[in-house]
Amino acid sequence: MIRILTIIGARPQIIKASALSRSIKNKFSDKIQEVILHTGQHYDDQMSKIFFDELKIPKPDYNLNVGSSSHGKQTALMIQGIEDVLLKEKPDVMILYGDTNSTLAGAVAGSKLHIPIAHIEAGLRSFNKSMPEEINRIMCDHVSTYLFTPTTTAVENLKSEGFNVLSKPEYNIDNPCISNLGDVMYDNSMHFSSVAEEKSSVLQKYNLEKNNFITVTIHRDNNTDNPKRLNSIFKAIDNISKENNIDIIIPLHPRTSKILKERLSEELYAKIINNKFLKIIPPVSFFDMIMLEKNSKLIVTDSGGVQKEAYFYKKPCVILRSETEWVEIIKNKAGIIADAEYNKIINSVNYFMKNNDINFQQVFGNANAAELICEKILKDF
Ligand code: UD1
Ligand code: UDP
Repeated sequence: MIRILTIIGARPQIIKASALSRSIKNKFSDKIQEVILHTGQHYDDQMSKIFFDELKIPKPDYNLNVGSSSHGKQTALMIQGIEDVLLKEKPDVMILYGDTNSTLAGAVAGSKLHIPIAHIEAGLRSFNKSMPEEINRIMCDHVSTYLFTPTTTAVENLKSEGFNVLSKPEYNIDNPCISNLGDVMYDNSMHFSSVAEEKSSVLQKYNLEKNNFITVTIHRDNNTDNPKRLNSIFKAIDNISKENNIDIIIPLHPRTSKILKERLSEELYAKIINNKFLKIIPPVSFFDMIMLEKNSKLIVTDSGGVQKEAYFYKKPCVILRSETEWVEIIKNKAGIIADAEYNKIINSVNYFMKNNDINFQQVFGNANAAELICEKILKDF
């Protein structure tokens, strides 16, 4: 029996972790024991608890309850708390997801205690170090022993940073193992697709007509914290809904909802609030999100995960960033980088309103990444 310690903290990590927990429960319960540590980075029920309940993820064994603060303080509190748990639990392997401050804290605490780190979603790069996520993911990759990449692009990125993609056992922090086994988010999107159809009533609740609405999410710090960008994005959304007579549903991250009134101009805020096509709602459950994504005409987002889910469900996506780590989406012409530019956002949406003959090639694995990851880790013990 090997013991793994999984670190989660932010919404997408909780969702991603459900794939591995499910796989352990269904196939490896006699071989892998999982201990779950929640840093408490996300703490609202709609950002955390709802996913444990809905996706049947085991309740965390530890919750550090660090809450929100500056990057330094938040990460420091996490490192301290994670270190205590690692010393007590002495896991064989630590599992880290993605690129949040919870990922970075786990990487620092675990590597200093010589605990092998498995990084799921390794090798992704935006090549934009003004993003906190780019710093977090680079630091985590470089202290990991197992790098689980979701795409071949991620493998190439690691290669160009000097990683040996053909390394042989004994694996360790200086001789890490790179395995390209697919994307655990794809596992989840396929696994829960029909369950969501059964369980979610979000379309009825918000009176949405299938294939005749747009889903939007906005939470990236450079969009929420920069009033110019935020105004440009919302002005475009307001315009798109009215020009096309189309409903736009926006499950809004608390980061964005908290500052909307203060950062938008008074005039634009009034327009948004009085626009009958715009449905700005609190964050939704994963099943509700799946139904919104599957039934949207197209998706507009700055989220990494939502971009990919758009692709999984064969929906075009307008990306509110200046670049993306998920370059396959752009290569396959299923997404357009519009950044926060008013005209680009409108033109990209208009393009996809008319053109949806897209070849959604399968590039994110075979929806069995979690199982393959468990097998790979087990093989080494
Ligand atoms: C974090 C991640 C980001 C990821 C996102 C997923 C970092 C640096 N960023 O960004 O990569 O895409 O999670 O959603 O780790 N807040 C609440 N309730 C909550 C959580 C947050 O109100 O449950 C508000 C607080 O005002 C907080 C703000 O959101 O200050 C930002 O939260 P934080 O976790 O620091 O960053 P995210 O923007 O969520
Ligand atoms: N998500 C959700 N409810 C919402 C918005 C997003 O369940 O209201 C899910 C979404 O389906 C995806 C994940 O959260 O699986 C993406 O998280 P987020 O956009 O917060 O972060 P990112 O992927 O950009 O790190």
